[in-house]
Formats: sequence, C-alpha cells, structure tokens
Amino acid sequence: KTKITKICCIGAGYVGGPTMAVIAKKCPHIQVTVVDLNTERIAAWNDENVANIPIYEPGLSAIVEEARGRNLFFSTDVEKAIEEAQIIFISVNTPTKTYGKGKGKAADLKYIELCARQIAKISKDDKIVVEKSTLPVRTAEAIKSILDNTGNGVQFQILSNPEFLAEGTAVTDLLHPDRILIGGESTPEGQEAIQALVDVYSNWVPEEKILTTNVWSSELSKLTANAFLAQRISSINALSELCEKTGADVNEVAKAIGMDSRIGPKFLKASVGFGGSCFQKDILNLVYIAKSYGLDEVADYWEQVIIMNDYQKKRFSTKITQTLYNTVADKKITFFGWAFKKDTNDTRESAAIYVADDLIAEQAKIAVYDPKVSKEKILADLDYLKTRSPEENTASLSSYQNPYEACQESHAIAVLTEWDEFTTYDWQKIYDSMLKPAFVFDGRNILNKTALETIGFIYQAIGS
Ligand code: NAI
Repeated sequence: KTKITKICCIGAGYVGGPTMAVIAKKCPHIQVTVVDLNTERIAAWNDENVANIPIYEPGLSAIVEEARGRNLFFSTDVEKAIEEAQIIFISVNTPTKTYGKGKGKAADLKYIELCARQIAKISKDDKIVVEKSTLPVRTAEAIKSILDNTGNGVQFQILSNPEFLAEGTAVTDLLHPDRILIGGESTPEGQEAIQALVDVYSNWVPEEKILTTNVWSSELSKLTANAFLAQRISSINALSELCEKTGADVNEVAKAIGMDSRIGPKFLKASVGFGGSCFQKDILNLVYIAKSYGLDEVADYWEQVIIMNDYQKKRFSTKITQTLYNTVADKKITFFGWAFKKDTNDTRESAAIYVADDLIAEQAKIAVYDPKVSKEKILADLDYLKTRSPEENTASLSSYQNPYEACQESHAIAVLTEWDEFTTYDWQKIYDSMLKPAFVFDGRNILNKTALETIGFIYQAIGS
C-alpha cells in the first residue's frame, strides 16, 4: 500500500481553501498544494499579511498562518501540482447553467470537465481523483470516461467526497465534522482508494464518523442534505406569514415544535429567506435530475422549496414599501448586512441582493453597511442581475464603512444579515439621526422589539 504524502486541490475557493488548510494542519506529513486559475485569488492566499486571505471564516487565518509554507502551498501552477499529487481533489465551482439545455436548473459542469481533461493529459502515474465539488448524480461516470479515454494509460480511481461544511463555521465544521462521506467503487482498486482517503481523515476524525458508500449514494446524499436543510427554512418561513396574519408568533411556534425530539431545534429560524451558493443550486439540480427521469411529482415537490424562498424575499420588500406609505421613491433605506449569513464575506444568492433590486425598482436609495463586504462586491452583485444599467445601480446604492453614518437621515433600516454586532449598537443614537417615524424591518429576528419600541422605532419582525 502506498503512503499518501502529496495531495493537491484544484479550486482555492470557499471549500478548497478551508478544507485543505485543515488537512494540512492535521496531517503535517502530507504536502498539500491548492491551485487555482485565478491569479488574484492565489496571490491573496499567499499575502504576507494573513488578514488579507480572500475568504473570511472565523479561525481560518490562524490555521493558514500555521501551515502555510510548511506543508500548505497556494499556487497557479496547476500542471505541476497535478503531476506530483497522489490524490487530486476537484473543488471547482459548479454553478447553475445560464445557457442551453437545463438552463436555470442543471449544474454547469464545464469547469469539472476541464479539470478532468487536464488531469488526464498530465498524469504519468496512477491517481485518485476526489470529487469535492457538489455534483449531480452520476458525474463520476463522466469524469471516469474522460480520464480513461484521454489519459496516458495510467489508472484512475474516482471517489465522491462531498463537503458538508457551512460557511461562517467552516473551520469548526471541518475540525469536528458530523460525518465524512466517501463513495467509491466496490472493486478491490476502488476499496483501496477509499481506504487511502479514510487514512487521511482518520488523522483527526474518529473512524465511526467516516461513512463509505457507493459513488451514487454519496453524490445524491449531498444534494439531499441541502434539500432537507433548505426545506426546513422554507417550511418555517411559510408558517411565518400565517403567524403574522393570525397573531401567533413564529419564534414561539418554532420553539414549541423544536422541542419535539423527532423535529429538533436547529434550522427553524424564520427569516427573509435563505441565500448562499448551494441551497438553491443544489435543489434546482435535484429538480432537474428528477425531471430528466420523468418524475414530475418529485420534481415539483422539491421545486416548491425554492418558490417559497423567492416569495419570502419578495414579501419582505413589499412589506417595506407598503409600510412606508406605499412609496419608497427617493427615500433612503439602510441595509444592515449584505452577506448571505453572518461570519462570512460570501454574498452569492444573498437575500439582500433581491430585496435591494426590488426597492431600487421602486426608486429607493439604498445605503448598505456590512462589516465584511466591499462596495465593489455589492455593486457587482446587483449588476449581475442585469435589471438595469450599472450606472443606474451606482446612482441608487451607496455603501458605508460606519453603521451610524449609514443610518443618517434614513427612513428605515432593514436587517438582512444576522451579524452579532447589530444587536450591540447604540440604537438611541441611530434613532436620533433618522427621519421620523423611524422604521426597523428585522429580516432576521435578532433585535429587541421592546427596547426598540421604547426608543420610538416602529419595529416589524418576520412572523409576529
Ligand atoms: P468558489 O467559486 O469559491 O471556488 C471555486 C474555485 O475554482 C474558483 O476560485 C475558480 O477560479 C476555481 N477554478 C474553476 N475552474 C478551475 C480550473 N479548471 N482550474 C483551476 N481552478 C479552477 O466555489 P466554492 O464555494 O468553493 O464551491 C466549490 C464546490 O463545492 C461547489 O461545487 C459547491 O457546490 C461545493 N460546496 C460548497 C460549499 C460552500 O459552502 N460554499 C459547501 C459544500 C460544498
């Protein structure tokens, strides 16, 4: 049995970066190289000041500081890293297709295929190729076919090893995973490859938490996990509107049902809706796969999770406009938060983008404060929707470094991200600087209603 001493990972993003940093920390005997085509991103990972690494996650910079240059390397030399590695993780992006067949639903696998072709071209000895990216069921088959038909006659074993980390808690999740899932072939070579990867993880993960399955079960488990998680959010959000209409309080309902051990307390917080690069994309993918097998009822069932989420975002922006006397034209509305959740600088599919887009369509002026997101990123997110010209977006949206300045002369504050710091502000000072009546729309149910109402705010939460 060959001992694993060199690993490489293609894709230095939100998954590849933190995952490899933790492997390097826990396996000092393994050399880990993370490669990416994006030279800026790699330069940022190599920035002398670890505070400037491109991904913000609590605890990540300390790990990078410890391992970088020892057994953790970031590079743009993809070929060299592939050639040297025994295990190659593919951790590139798999966004929803924006063109052609399956547009808007299917996963775009062009980045994955490029990786496979490059691995095939370069490899001169046997490799284990690990799908770390979330992939539609049976992608491994396609990767295998490319590798076997374009390679140099060397042997490839394909493993599926989906990542279950959550952004914002990536480091803790990686250090103490609920489980590690590894799918592989049942042949002796397949089992040997699985064991090689198990041996890497067992440097810090207890063996009983490492599950091995066939490849298809592993691929489908990742899509299913995200569908179930998102479904809980859409379920509680669906109830939030009913609570608002009937005088029930969704927080009380969530607590009451969450104490049922069959349901459990997690992922039951009503909000403006889920975001992030994964939930929507992976459910759409599941829907597409079900449809492609002619399973229309199955597809419609899961699609409803997305429809509910879109509705929840829309409902929030409509509520703001209606409450502000049916017009937000030329009114300054302050957004607290732009990231899709707290403790990350990731904004992909963030609810804030869609709420801002709706309000700008009503000619509102949006003022954003987010502790970790730059103005360039915010505008790029809006421009990406192509609702109006970039010039019009720039004219309608401003961004602030200081939360108090963002609130000056504002008509309303909308909380879009649950950053802890928002709860600690001097809300009296904020109130004093705003136009009256001063409104707060708490899209994350994190602020203290009684305290804000005592100051004089008109406060509206989700689901109460
Ligand atoms: P990302 O977009 O942050 O990173 C992907 C990186 O791959 C980019 O930096 C891109 O430049 C690079 N890349 C693309 N093609 C390449 C090529 N041919 N050669 C070298 N580099 C290439 O994406 P992220 O968030 O890390 O996601 C990666 C995968 O992991 C996706 O399939 C996603 O669904 C999955 N995933 C994401 C999670 C998350 O929380 N973001 C959690 C679990 C899974």
